[in-house]
Amino acid sequence: MAKIDGKKISADIKEEVANEVSGIKQSGKKIPHLATMIVGNDPASETYVKHKIKACETVGFKSSDFRYDADISQEYLLEEIRKVNENDDIDGLIVQLPLPDHISESTVIETVDPKKDVDGFHPVNMGRMVTGSPAYLPATPAGVLDLMKRYNIETEGKNCVIIGRSNIVGRPLGVLLSRKAYPGNCTVTVCHSRTKNIGEYTRSADILIVAIGKMHFITADMVKDNAVVFDVGIHRVESDKTKSGWKLHGDVDYANVAEKASYITPVPGGIGPMTIASLLQNTLKAAENK
Ligand code: GUN
Repeated sequence: MAKIDGKKISADIKEEVANEVSGIKQSGKKIPHLATMIVGNDPASETYVKHKIKACETVGFKSSDFRYDADISQEYLLEEIRKVNENDDIDGLIVQLPLPDHISESTVIETVDPKKDVDGFHPVNMGRMVTGSPAYLPATPAGVLDLMKRYNIETEGKNCVIIGRSNIVGRPLGVLLSRKAYPGNCTVTVCHSRTKNIGEYTRSADILIVAIGKMHFITADMVKDNAVVFDVGIHRVESDKTKSGWKLHGDVDYANVAEKASYITPVPGGIGPMTIASLLQNTLKAAENK
């Protein structure tokens, strides 16, 4: 079994982006600028946004951190998004999800200028992705594809089974991996909460991607020998064995599945760090496309 080291690849990508930023600075051009918006104080969202801002600092991007109370009106938030859309200094905007229940996620996503939509969530970018036109790809799927490339994972003609059909992960990965491209040319099956006999599908997978949001959902008996396994899940569990008092686990029972897999992403240190790397790549692209 080989561990896919997302932490290392993410660090490599950050270094590549930082080198590009040095070049941009030397040539006197405007440095890339990412704006983040967070509504309310969901602790997980706070942590994600903090990491995104820190990553911007690491590579030399400018960042702006917009924060709003949980009870702001939808119209107020949309007006704030429009201001960022019109601000020429800002290249990319992400509105951290989830949003409070009284705010429509789809309306918010559709208000972000597609040219600044470095999350790749706007229907224009989703549509372009589906038709194979240049688009910002959502960060997690882009991170999975990058890991496949950098580890030379063969994908052509492989059975790829994706567990989870979210707009952010499972659905776009299904589209991307069935494309006539590398990584791609897979025969893709997307399983979800209503799939019957899910093990029959997972056991047929040469490539298994798990984004179902249930800790240790995939056990060793559900995995074919030598499968390549990508674990998108992230669950924080109390632990008396760590200094922090908690430990992260994925959707895959790593210890047992690793014995059967040819390649596998750990949690932490697998897909997680890649999502931020992809966001930085998209922001750089947004700045260059100006
Ligand atoms: N919430 C969970 N993942 C994401 C993401 O990739 N982008 C945004 N904006 N919100 C999220």
